[in-house]
Amino acid sequence: MPFNIFANRRRSFDNPALLFGAAAAGFAAGLFANFGRKAAVQSLTALKGEWDEGLKSEHRLTMKIFDAIEQTEEQDIARRKTLLVQLQHALAKHAVEEENVVYPAMRDHGQIEDADKLVHDHGYVKQYLFDLSEMEPDDPAWIAKVRTFRADIEAHVREEEEILFPRLKAALGDEGNAHITSAMNKAGFTAA
Ligand SMILES: [Fe+2]
Ligand SMILES: [Fe+2]
Repeated sequence: MPFNIFANRRRSFDNPALLFGAAAAGFAAGLFANFGRKAAVQSLTALKGEWDEGLKSEHRLTMKIFDAIEQTEEQDIARRKTLLVQLQHALAKHAVEEENVVYPAMRDHGQIEDADKLVHDHGYVKQYLFDLSEMEPDDPAWIAKVRTFRADIEAHVREEEEILFPRLKAALGDEGNAHITSAMNKAGFTAA
């Protein structure tokens, strides 16, 4: 009935909260479609005060993606492929932050062999990602390789979080830590 349609319209025009809510939802959806991925990836480090806290958040995100992959079944081929792409994105940004800023800062503070070893580990992270993308996700060897990959990354992360990053943080001092945080966030923004 025309009258009812008009009445419904009137109701929404009379209620600014409804209109604003609808406009805000549309705006947010548009923003998310355009910038969502970059913002979501970027925010992990940009919103944290310290470089090492930002990297720890990204380590946790990586483990969540591994959890999600390990919860899939062999027949969830599309989901496995999507999660592998998410892992590639997350690890690519993380590698740029560490390899372009944090590891060079480690070398400048005497941790040369340690930094070189971590870069070597990252080479094998790329190897795993390549091998997994070349394999069929429903091959039982695929999930077996994911589990080995995760174990290797967990060992690498433990070394960073428990030994090497605290050592660099202590060597940098307040000003140095603030500088590395800013340099790392810039590198991460470019890479995200
Ligand atoms: Fe690393
Ligand atoms: Fe890391």
